[in-house]
Amino acid sequence: MANVVVVGAQWGDEGKGKIVDWLSERADVIARFQGGHNAGHTLVVGGEVYKLHALPSGVVRRGKLSIIGNGVVLDPWHLVKEIAGIREQGVEITPETLMIAENTPLILPFHGELDRAREAQNSVAKIGTTGRGIGPAYEDKVGRRVIRVADLGDARTLELRVDRALVHHNALRAGLGLDPVDRDALIEDLRAIAPEILQYAAPVWKVLKDKRRAGRRILFEGAQGALLDIDFGTYPFVTSSNVIAGQATTGTGAGPDAVGFVLGIVKAYTTRVGEGPFPTELHDDDGQRLGERGHEFGTTTGRKRRCGWFDACLVRQSCAISGVTGIALTKLDVLDGFETLKICTGYELDGVRMDYLPTAADQQARCTPVYEEMPGWSQSTEGARSWADLPAEAIKYVRRVEELIECPVALLSTSPERDDTILVTDPFAD
Ligand code: GDP
Ligand code: IMO
Ligand code: MG
Repeated sequence: MANVVVVGAQWGDEGKGKIVDWLSERADVIARFQGGHNAGHTLVVGGEVYKLHALPSGVVRRGKLSIIGNGVVLDPWHLVKEIAGIREQGVEITPETLMIAENTPLILPFHGELDRAREAQNSVAKIGTTGRGIGPAYEDKVGRRVIRVADLGDARTLELRVDRALVHHNALRAGLGLDPVDRDALIEDLRAIAPEILQYAAPVWKVLKDKRRAGRRILFEGAQGALLDIDFGTYPFVTSSNVIAGQATTGTGAGPDAVGFVLGIVKAYTTRVGEGPFPTELHDDDGQRLGERGHEFGTTTGRKRRCGWFDACLVRQSCAISGVTGIALTKLDVLDGFETLKICTGYELDGVRMDYLPTAADQQARCTPVYEEMPGWSQSTEGARSWADLPAEAIKYVRRVEELIECPVALLSTSPERDDTILVTDPFAD
């Protein structure tokens, strides 16, 4: 059975939510495998807009099982609010339709405070995080002092876990000039939220094993994008998890043999939120225009996204690292009306041509993009649902992207609406 992994291939916000929602019609289970509510995934279904952060993007479709895997860091108070908001939009969420891995680490209020305190402290350390406590929670997971979903089920264990975390955090907070955490209030808050979370808790690895045995199709939903990956991204201006396709299995407990097709989500140009290198960034009218036409404001923080030309060199790199089988090219319609389009094919570093982005920060800073130009198109591609609806220049652009990134286009997206999608190759086909 061809299960599918969806991953972002740039700096996030490629349109993963729209594509996961579209694909989830063909899936039985939709599982998030990393990140947290730093993600913001937007779905538009018949004009109704859903903004999802911690919940998988398959949640709006009836009869599907949504899973939050152990690779995610989960803020329980945020989740309860997000579920309430989505229910108000008429979506049903029950322990039959949502499961949370018992070994999922929790984001606690002091993680968010630490994240924001560090960001506010000085400009040298600033990453431009979402301030949601993602980094500090992952630090605690690796530091073996995080509180996990299963710990909520036993009062004594919960106290021990809180005390273990606070030994570290109170020392850190003192250094940052923050008050110590109110231990008893925190334990009380956790006890109060526990039943709301525990009703969804499940041994997800086992659920997935049983689903696979029953021939059910699984769609693994990634957050962020390859250039934000903790190992392969533009470190330290990255998020704190592995976001690439390999994480789909460690972040859920499904074995690597569960993965059939890796779908990279790729925006037809480039955006980035927060600090860090961005070789093709534009500070001119073209950049302004991409931002306006693409409505490039963050779903989670509302921050303006930085915009630039398509960087084929970076996407080629991302596709290799995630083992991408095919891509979904999104927001092609945003390029309508440009007279000329530029594509970055590589970089020049100290007079030498590079076909990848080097790892060293100083070298990254000295890389200048090498561009090729293509004619744009004046017709509208917005809402196109077949190749026949696309102007010849748009098809040429797509074909050139495929060549340069060494990966075929499986899906094309031409508006935020669910059905404004062109299927080239079905990722779920066996
Ligand atoms: P994600 O984080 O990868 O799920 O992406 P976001 O939802 O944060 O950002 C993508 C934005 O582009 C959302 O507002 C989508 O509704 C929108 N979008 C997705 N696909 C398309 C498309 O093909 N064309 C246009 N114009 N907008 C799109
Ligand atoms: P989706 O899933 C775009 C960025 C932040 C910041 C860096 C670290 O919607 O594509 P963090 O809060 O994770 O410690 O912030 O990562 N970032 C994202 N940028 N899309 C996202 O998610 C992002 N999640 C985190 O802006 O630069
Ligand atoms: Mg987003």
